[in-house]
Amino acid sequence: MFSRLAGIGSFLPGPAVSNDDLARRGIETSDEWVTSRTGIKFRHLAENGETASDLAVEASRRALAAAGLDAGDLDLIIVATSTPDVIFPSTACLLQSKLGNHGATAFDIQAVCSGFVYALTVADKFIQSGSHRRALVVGAEVFSKILDWSDRATCVLFGDGAGAVVLEAAEKPGILATALHADGSYHGILSVPGSVCGGKVTGDPFLRMDGQSVFKFAVRALAEVADECCRLAGVPQSGIDWLIPHQANIRILEATARKMKLPMDKVVVTVDRHGNTSAASVPLALDEAVRDGRIVAGQKVLLEGVGGGFTWGAVLFEL
Ligand code: UT7
Repeated sequence: MFSRLAGIGSFLPGPAVSNDDLARRGIETSDEWVTSRTGIKFRHLAENGETASDLAVEASRRALAAAGLDAGDLDLIIVATSTPDVIFPSTACLLQSKLGNHGATAFDIQAVCSGFVYALTVADKFIQSGSHRRALVVGAEVFSKILDWSDRATCVLFGDGAGAVVLEAAEKPGILATALHADGSYHGILSVPGSVCGGKVTGDPFLRMDGQSVFKFAVRALAEVADECCRLAGVPQSGIDWLIPHQANIRILEATARKMKLPMDKVVVTVDRHGNTSAASVPLALDEAVRDGRIVAGQKVLLEGVGGGFTWGAVLFEL
């Protein structure tokens, strides 16, 4: 038994917010600084009160429509998010309720910016085992709610959004290979260290990052896991039609493509218009490139994630 991608959808909240808009809102930054260091020009920000499941439900409806399925057809719902609506129940259960599905297995995955790649891998394993046949896999984030808007080194980097994929059982792959890794000894270089205890937030509730350490880790991890995933699938890196790495920074994407000897025109780039949307970035980019006709049936696509934990991973599939 294999799994294949049957439908993809995505959703971005509100209007695009430019670097100049952020500067006008009082953040001590410039379009020149943000563009030259990160490639980011715009991001979308959720309204107050707009949650990860609100974004997820829109992306999911689009993915279900693309697959020609109803929510009732799903027997597995996995949401990758680090910005859940509430501590519990899971965002997957809240999404399930909004979609009107009753009875499917539903849970969240917390692997920060690798979350979608983790969730897709887990769904693939469920389907391969024969226990489930139709999975909805979502990356949904409202990172704007965990940003310290007085910390210009982090707040300019992130945006909100959601992307979703319907994965279904198939006679032939579909997903060709997956690889997931983590090394918790790097937990300190990217984290939200606070927690809730005794009715209070204890510790720092905002995202904190050692940007340069993250940059170096990300470039190495993305190159290594791309190599590993291609070897597992028996596909040479030159045989990849499209590379979709986590959209953190254009310089990380360029360095990864360089290490893989892939030209940038084989890399899907959305970081310029979405910023870093954590677990949502890969399915958002995938949806854009499928809808605009760049990625077509029969092509091989390598998805890659890297993020807090540290976690990293890749999924190679044929559309
Ligand atoms: O999913 C993973 C998420 N994380 C990432 O992808 C982050 C990876 N890291 C990076 O992309 C880069 O490290 C950053 C873009 C975050 C920072 O670039 P950098 O070249 O490492 O800059 P820096 O932190 O060394 O800061 C250089 C200067 C500092 O000023 P001084 O001390 O040299 O005077 C900062 O205060 O840039 C200043 N700076 C800013 N200036 C204008 C920091 N943020 C800003 C800003 N606007 N937004």
